[in-house]
Amino acid sequence: MSEPDADALGERADTMIRTLGSISAEPNRLIRQYLTPEHRAAADLIGSWMRAAKLEVSEDALGTVRGHWAGATKKRLLIGSHIDTVIDGGMYDGPFGVVAGILAAEHFAAAGRKLGFGIDVLAFGDEEGVRFPTTLASSMACAGTFDVARLDMTGRDGVTLRDAIKQYGKNPDDIPAAAYARDVAAAYVEVHIEQGPVLEYRSQPLGVVNAIAGQSYLNVEFLGEAGHAGTVPMMLRRDALAGAAEVILLAERLARETKGEVVATVGHLRIPAAASNVIPGNVALIVDIRSGSDKARHQFVDAFKAEIRAVAGRRELGLTITQTRDVATTPCDPALQDGIADAIRAVGGEPLRLASGAGHDGTAMAKLCPIAMMFVRCRGGISHNPAEYASPADMGLAIGALIRFIENAKL
Ligand code: GLV
Ligand code: MN
Ligand code: MN
Repeated sequence: MSEPDADALGERADTMIRTLGSISAEPNRLIRQYLTPEHRAAADLIGSWMRAAKLEVSEDALGTVRGHWAGATKKRLLIGSHIDTVIDGGMYDGPFGVVAGILAAEHFAAAGRKLGFGIDVLAFGDEEGVRFPTTLASSMACAGTFDVARLDMTGRDGVTLRDAIKQYGKNPDDIPAAAYARDVAAAYVEVHIEQGPVLEYRSQPLGVVNAIAGQSYLNVEFLGEAGHAGTVPMMLRRDALAGAAEVILLAERLARETKGEVVATVGHLRIPAAASNVIPGNVALIVDIRSGSDKARHQFVDAFKAEIRAVAGRRELGLTITQTRDVATTPCDPALQDGIADAIRAVGGEPLRLASGAGHDGTAMAKLCPIAMMFVRCRGGISHNPAEYASPADMGLAIGALIRFIENAKL
């Protein structure tokens, strides 16, 4: 089998990512939410690339595009990432992992030599959790852990997941068939931009992920009393937004006090009847809390909830706190980590081990089989931002290392 040309692969990945990056709900910012027409268009493009790479293409009930290359046994190496984006996101978060999988699988498919295992490249559609309150529906379906109660959950556009699946042309009754059998799914590997600054700081193009941080999501809703901005004296107000502002600063203060162990973010605030001359009577916000330590995260959540209740009490606000996520930290498989490290060395890198603060489909896939992740340096560590960038040279090295990993994998 010929040696892969990493530079050429990096250039091809770059072109593919830019093409995919042009598929968006809006012309001037990248928005590709789960089960939307943009998702459909991106999935079709991915399917056409898989076919061109000589992979057999199918799609499951939750829209995951699968490109299959048969091996000598029924065992398969699953390689995947996601093609949905945040609002005004970057082009590389997710798509790079799918494109890397296609180009690596093509390397073997084009040579026509069978490996001891097949390869399935998976393009998931629900990793960012932007449209619906929970996330990873597509990878959970593949892992056989999708909870059908989630079908009734309503997205930010008011459509339930069940209806969104039907509108996408799929049948929710087919979800169980998306699950891989445990004796088929030998391992799951994902290549992803780092989304943080460590590799750049250490002048390394590639790294090995040792664990994916756990997450908690709290939906906090305050109910005060709407009123006229000009007539109600300050002392008589029950301002729900002022309560929310305290919670935002509280999240920041408590997280800073953990000295790096926990990070907490309020990136979503909803003021249903927002108007400049109305005292806000109802406000909802989402707090995203993450840590590599589940104990530290749980302690944080308990202390934070107590402080939120105190804010509501002082301000005489009604309060509901709903925890929509409590996802444990996911360790990556030690033997697969070593395989990724060897592959990075083989392409001239020094395999730095680092944890992922970002969430990934690997968290869901770890319930099915051992998982591993390779990180690729991204400029300035910037992600979830249109300025996100990884160089073609680094992406080429990553695909070269992925090919090496596949060649040497004992599954
Ligand atoms: C996805 O990018 C997440 O970490 O929330
Ligand atoms: Mn991602
Ligand atoms: Mn992301």
